[in-house]
Amino acid sequence: MSAQILDGKAIAADVREQIKRHVDDRITGGQRRPGLIVILVGENPASQVYVRNKQHACQQVGFLSELMQLPADTSENELLEVIDSLNARDDVDGILVQLPLPPQINEDTVTERILPTKDVDGFHPYNIGRLVLRQPLLRPCTPKGVMTMLARTGIDLVGKDAVIIGQSNIVGRPMFLELLMARCTVTVCHSKTKDLAGKVRAADIVVAAVGVPRFVTADWIKPGAIVIDVGINRLQDGSLCGDVDTAAVSEVASWITPVPGGVGPMTVATLLENTLIAADLRDSRED
Ligand code: GUN
Repeated sequence: MSAQILDGKAIAADVREQIKRHVDDRITGGQRRPGLIVILVGENPASQVYVRNKQHACQQVGFLSELMQLPADTSENELLEVIDSLNARDDVDGILVQLPLPPQINEDTVTERILPTKDVDGFHPYNIGRLVLRQPLLRPCTPKGVMTMLARTGIDLVGKDAVIIGQSNIVGRPMFLELLMARCTVTVCHSKTKDLAGKVRAADIVVAAVGVPRFVTADWIKPGAIVIDVGINRLQDGSLCGDVDTAAVSEVASWITPVPGGVGPMTVATLLENTLIAADLRDSRED
């Protein structure tokens, strides 16, 4: 068997096209362009690439976007004041603070300061709570993007056994909530999990978010499984690879996401979706 490719780059382009049409409709109807502010504190090279991608994507769909670059020694209070001023701005629908932050700044404090209605990352406890209760509003971008990709397989997810490797707040935990909401039976694995290989072997859907190059090998995969690779690891030769041994796993799985060009572009496209939802929600409340 050779797995079909879940082409995140192409699916993300479709999502952007839909968003662009919706933005055009908003403008025709006399509404504002959605606005996203991305805040980058410090000079983490990976973060610089990510925020550039996010800004470029905003331009592609006709959003207003602004990058606020703050020095690495910015204090927590200074950042909180910036967030307060953006919370108050009518032209700002989404506020994204790129993580990780420098050590003097508490990420939870910052996340909770962003108005839940402008939390386009979906990380605020309010938005996570809504997802827990199956009443999501703004949903974390990477797991939501994965669900968009899974929908493209045309496979009915109801009753499927899903295994997530990784329990982070950004990916593993909200991914669990998304798959559970889709009525999968979900197991979340982490560094203390017993018999990880055995658990992965029982899965119809595997989501790898560990941060270890080619951690998931072909002998762990049930024939016909769907394999989603959230990892982006830079190797010593400068090339990128995921958490899955893609070439070998492709011989066993039914569907697989490539790295790069899989989950990464979907995270960015989903951020745009969330910003548009935030703009529509704010407009409907103000009407
Ligand atoms: N750092 C890595 N992924 C993300 C993300 O999805 N959002 C933010 N804000 N920071 C990140």
